[in-house]
Order: sequence, then C-alpha cells, then structure tokens
Amino acid sequence: MSPPPSKDPATVGGGQPGSTISRRQPGDRPADGAVEDLNASIFVAGHRGLVGSAICRRLAAEGFTNVLTVPRRDLDLRDQSAVARWFDANRPDHVYLVAGTVGGIMANSTRQAEFLYDNMMIHATVIEAARRFEVRKLLYLGSACVYPRLSPQPIPEAALLTGPLEPTNEGYSLAKIAGIRLCQFYRKQYGCNFITAMPTNLYGPNDNFDLRQSHVLPALMRKFHEAKIRGETGVEIWGTGKARREFLHVDDLADACLFLMDHFEGEGHINVGTGVDHSIGDLAAAIRDVVHPEADMIFDTTKPDGMPRRVLDVTMINRLGWRARIDLADGIASTYDWYREAIDATSAPGAATDPRLQVRLDGELSDVG
Ligand SMILES: NC(=O)c1ccc[n+]([C@@H]2O[C@H](COP(=O)([O-])OP(=O)(O)OC[C@H]3O[C@@H](n4cnc5c(N)ncnc54)[C@H](OP(=O)(O)O)[C@@H]3O)[C@@H](O)[C@H]2O)c1
Repeated sequence: MSPPPSKDPATVGGGQPGSTISRRQPGDRPADGAVEDLNASIFVAGHRGLVGSAICRRLAAEGFTNVLTVPRRDLDLRDQSAVARWFDANRPDHVYLVAGTVGGIMANSTRQAEFLYDNMMIHATVIEAARRFEVRKLLYLGSACVYPRLSPQPIPEAALLTGPLEPTNEGYSLAKIAGIRLCQFYRKQYGCNFITAMPTNLYGPNDNFDLRQSHVLPALMRKFHEAKIRGETGVEIWGTGKARREFLHVDDLADACLFLMDHFEGEGHINVGTGVDHSIGDLAAAIRDVVHPEADMIFDTTKPDGMPRRVLDVTMINRLGWRARIDLADGIASTYDWYREAIDATSAPGAATDPRLQVRLDGELSDVG
C-alpha cells in the first residue's frame, strides 16, 4: 500500500474541512469540471518543482483545504501499480499533472532516452489512473517545445505536428506530444475531462539553478551572481544575444492553470505565455541590472543561438479572458530575492544542500522547456 499523501501545511490553504465553500461569483460561467468548492480534493503531481510549487502556493492563497501532494521517494510516478494504488487510496477530484523530467539543451540532448521514457511513463500512469479512479478533471502541461522547429512565429496552437521537431530535444518533445494526444484520446474514447496547456519558457521561485540542467534565465542569474561574489566584471553569455524568447513568471502560469481548470474545456490544447518576446541580450542586460550592475556582458558568438525567435500566439487564452500580469523586470527582481534567500538558507551550517542551487559547473544556456 502506498503511504498516504503528505499535506504540507506550507502549501495547503485555510478553510474548514468538511464544509462546502462555493467558489462561484454571480455571473460566473464555469467550464465543465470546474472546481466548485474549496474542499475539492486536488492532486498536484510534481509539487516540489518550479510549476508544482507555484500551483500549491496559488491554491493555498485561494483557500483550498484539500490539496494532495506526495514526494517522489514515496511515489515514483513512473510506476503504474503504485500510482494506481495511490489514486485508489486518495481519490482526487482534480489533478494538475505537472511532474516531469525537465532540463536545458545539454540535459535534453545527452539524455534523450531518459527524457522520452520518464515523461511518457509519468503521463501514462497518471492519466490512466485518473481515468480508472474517475477524476473529474485533469490539466496536463506540455511545453512550447512540442512545436516544430520551423513553426510560424508567434506559434499558433495549429502548428502542432506540422513539421520536424528540434533534434536536440526530440525525446522530450515526443513524450510531451504523446501526453497531449493521450489526453485527447482518453477524452474521445472514455469521455474523460482531460485538458492540455502548452506553456512558454518559465522562471521564478524554485527554479533549477544547476547549470547542468537550468534554462537560460536562471543560468544567467547564477552567472551574474557568482561573478559578483568573485569580484569579476566579465560575464560570458552564449551566442550573439540576438535570439528572441518569451518568458512567463511561474506565478502567472499558476494563475493560468487555475483559470483553465475553471474556464477551459475541449479537446484542443491551448498556449500559455505573454505573447511578448525579448532578445537574449536584453534579457541578460535586465538580469545584470538587478544582480551585478557593474558587470560587462561578453557574448561568445562561437556558441549557438538556437532558433532565432520563439514566442507563442496567445490569442486563444487572451480571448478566454486570461492574460499574463507580471512584468519581466519585476519578475527578475523577485526571483533574484528568492535565489539569494535560498542560497543563504542552504549555505547555513547544518542546512540541507539543494542540488538545484548548489551544483557549480560551466554550463549551457538554453531555452528548452
Ligand atoms: N520549466 C519550464 O520552463 C517549462 C516550460 C514549459 C513546460 N514545462 C512543463 O512543466 C512541467 C513542470 O516543469 P518544472 O519546470 O516545474 O520542472 P521541475 O522544477 O523539474 O519539477 C518537476 C517535478 O516533477 C517531479 N518528478 C519528476 N519525476 C518524477 C517521478 N518519476 N516521480 C515523482 N515525481 C517526479 C519532481 O520531483 P522532485 O522534486 O523529487 O525532483 C518535481 O517535483 C513539466 O511537465 C514541464 O514539461 C516547464
């Protein structure tokens, strides 16, 4: 028997268990399967990660009383029997499926088998258990990486499966596409209310700052921070700085996830982003201004830029009534506050080390989601 879920008091909201607290406002027109009351049982799969922790914070802020989480050491989400036992014992009504093996271009390109296997297994086990144990609604997170390498920009939802994928993250992308299709086929064949959303590049508290795996924004933040600590002024940035990318604060994504659970239904997937792109040079300058204003940016043009531009078309989610709110400069400043506090906390005597913050290597800069 799997252990019972942990209900981390830090992530579970207030309210009175047992009573029904309606979330509906007059005039609100919720979608099928919307979370109707604050006592609904909600499983966040992947709650310790960048996205999962933001969803837990958001659920807590809204006052949800019955948020279920379980650490990986107690439940390996790749294990179908264990996942089925856990669902049987805990019977969640709603699921945010945001667990996965995630990383930057080096991790993605050198561990393609792992990225394909882990992600396919996690999606398959949780989606099948959600069907068997009659979850009312499940939100599955894909990634902007599912779109073909040569998609039109901004990338519309319709670009899915219209061309070859970026080879460096093909394993990850194929798994994510399989997850989207699995949700769609479960909806068609079994009538399951499973929806899918494709977020752009994310950043924020609890991001991964291990340079072997991190994405471009935390990697740059860490490079500027360490240059400042070492008293260095030159900071090397991969590529020309001209490539353009979109960055969404994870608290905005969490807001979008709750919004979609309540207001989105149907078979198609939906993009989640700001719709605004920035050059890597401008991003680096914004991070430098916050972290280490004296630093000089040295662009290593021998390193690849990747795709010249990647930004999502967010017309569909905007039309539904949602848009991103956190400005990039504000998001960088608050993320850096979190990073400094986390570094201080983990370097205190006797503190547990966090590999996502502590590993120190010369790493890559990438935008693989
Ligand atoms: N980060 C981005 O920029 C980005 C962009 C687009 C889409 N996404 C998608 O968003 C989702 C979450 O990404 P993230 O950035 O939050 O990743 P993350 O920070 O690495 O978190 C992943 C979470 O999944 C858990 N997990 C992984 N394998 C597991 C397993 N076998 N059993 C149980 N738990 C497991 C991890 O547990 P531990 O804490 O124990 O490691 C962690 O809590 C993923 O589906 C990803 O594809 C992310």
